[in-house]
Amino acid sequence: MCGIVGYIGDREAQNILMKSLSRLEYRGYDSAGLAIIKGKKMRLAKKKGKLSVLVADLKANPLEGSTGIGHTRWSTHGVPSDTNAHPHLDCKGKIAVAHNGIIENYLELKEKLQKEGHKFISETDTEVIPHLIEKFYSGDIAEAVRRAVKVLRGSYAIAVIHRDEPLKLVGARCDSPLIVGIGCGENFLASDVPAVLDHTKEVIYLENHELVVLTKEHITIKDFEGRRIERKPSKINWDISQAEKGGYKHFMLKEIYEQAHIINNILDERCKKGSISFHELEISDSELEKIKRIAIVACGTAYHAGLTGKYMLEEYAKVPCWVDVSSEFRYRDPLVDKETLMIVVSQSGETADTLAALREAKRHGAKVLAICNVLGSSIARESDGVIYTHAGPEIAVASTKAYTAQLAIFYLLTLYLAKLRKTAAPAKLGALLKELKRIPALMGELLEEYRPEYNLLAAYAEGFKKYYHEKHNKTFFLYLARNINYPNALEGALKLKEIAYISAEGYPAGEMKHGPIALIDENPWVVCIAVKSRTYDKMVSNIQEIKARSGIVIAIATEGDKEILHHNINYLVEIPKAEELFSPLLVAIPLQLLAYYVARAFGYDIDQPRNLAKSVTVE
Ligand code: M6R
Repeated sequence: MCGIVGYIGDREAQNILMKSLSRLEYRGYDSAGLAIIKGKKMRLAKKKGKLSVLVADLKANPLEGSTGIGHTRWSTHGVPSDTNAHPHLDCKGKIAVAHNGIIENYLELKEKLQKEGHKFISETDTEVIPHLIEKFYSGDIAEAVRRAVKVLRGSYAIAVIHRDEPLKLVGARCDSPLIVGIGCGENFLASDVPAVLDHTKEVIYLENHELVVLTKEHITIKDFEGRRIERKPSKINWDISQAEKGGYKHFMLKEIYEQAHIINNILDERCKKGSISFHELEISDSELEKIKRIAIVACGTAYHAGLTGKYMLEEYAKVPCWVDVSSEFRYRDPLVDKETLMIVVSQSGETADTLAALREAKRHGAKVLAICNVLGSSIARESDGVIYTHAGPEIAVASTKAYTAQLAIFYLLTLYLAKLRKTAAPAKLGALLKELKRIPALMGELLEEYRPEYNLLAAYAEGFKKYYHEKHNKTFFLYLARNINYPNALEGALKLKEIAYISAEGYPAGEMKHGPIALIDENPWVVCIAVKSRTYDKMVSNIQEIKARSGIVIAIATEGDKEILHHNINYLVEIPKAEELFSPLLVAIPLQLLAYYVARAFGYDIDQPRNLAKSVTVE
């Protein structure tokens, strides 16, 4: 949540910072701002609204100078407004700060600073930071920042500049990500790698409680006690083109269409000569053999991937498994111990609740394995072992390719553990791996079938919009499924809620008769995942129950299933034939596309839905 950037060098900072902010807009987009120093003057531009509003403002009033910081905001404290937008200043307007995170003790600090005469103008927690730095400043901005962070409580990544020291840019982090981009005669600060990739592929990931001072030639890292730290840069091995739309109308659509390729790469990379390897995993086979239970903890879409993981891990690796949302796990007294393998799943690797859950599990002695997309992220670094999904940058707020990549890793992990623990016959595991390897091609076929030019799901979405207006907005969606596709029902509903703002619930179909069936009349559209499986007949009965009560049914069924057509369904979506175990990878695609096309039919901002941000780095 919130993106921060900084630049120091010889070039004009404004355009560099704005381009970098545009790469981070997925992190927050309710206001944005810049502060740039030229000579001994600092100028500020801050606007409520998307980055485009700030662009227009800067066109009329450009900011000159070669040292600056910028911010794109997802509000926590204080409504989106020009005043609450970052950067924030001290009393004299000499110090500017951009901040990502939450300062938990800001009220206490603010009260104290006010008593000492500091004047505040915004409603934000952030504003205490420039005032604290002002209080501690005696000619060295880095030292003043160091003293200020020592009294802050909460999570933060900050970028700081001082009008009187225009040749320095200071950053510090605690529980919010911050990277340094290493340029030639110039250096960069940012919340995430895409912000600097136009200029460099060499980055340094700052660790918690580290402070960095950048000049255009030098980078000095210290801990909060002031001790020097040497850190080798990391080389980024992906391209900025991967963080661009590549001809698609939206990032979400591009990311949906990348999925077959990504899953294929994951399987190619991890399965060589019939055996599975997780080369970066620093948890040994003997440790994995000993585990007695698995606890999977994640948020949102990653939680749904974890729920799917439970079905496969219990069935094939025969390990008892439970799944929790991170924000619940962290505040109960969980029964995890050194015999527990905790799997945390996170695309961004920065989700605050998941990070806190991970720390809680470690405190109880559990081994923590992360399934993560972003290299070097906090969750990846703090876990005992990590398996990267290598899905490339996911920019759309609605997660799609990270989800199916997480599923692919769960499949491989299941087969790996089943072999290690000898819980399934080698021939069976070999056959399953062979079938799994067929899935990317089937995903490719499915994506081709629903390619953007004539997409059946787009037509269904238009139909829904018409019906929605006819029914005076009373219609909504239900998603029903059983067994290993039940988490997909939750995921389909989540996708629709977050980008199309339509009320949607996911349910295990067997639960209908325990309450939700009361909702069925001619209003709801019910997506029934009825692919060929051991519970197919039960799903068909559920479809009949819905039809008997005038519900509108979209059935997701297996190609060639003639029987489904006899049940008076309203809309049919076919997926290729595949083993039930692997069907979630296929079913996910039409669910994602349906949400996408409904949001598009209503004309919503698909990649940046209201109130959301890509990585949720606050509680
Ligand atoms: O980065 P993470 O995977 O930890 O994020 C977890 C959720 O915030 C995320 O999946 C969210 O639910 C998505 N917007 C769903 O599309």
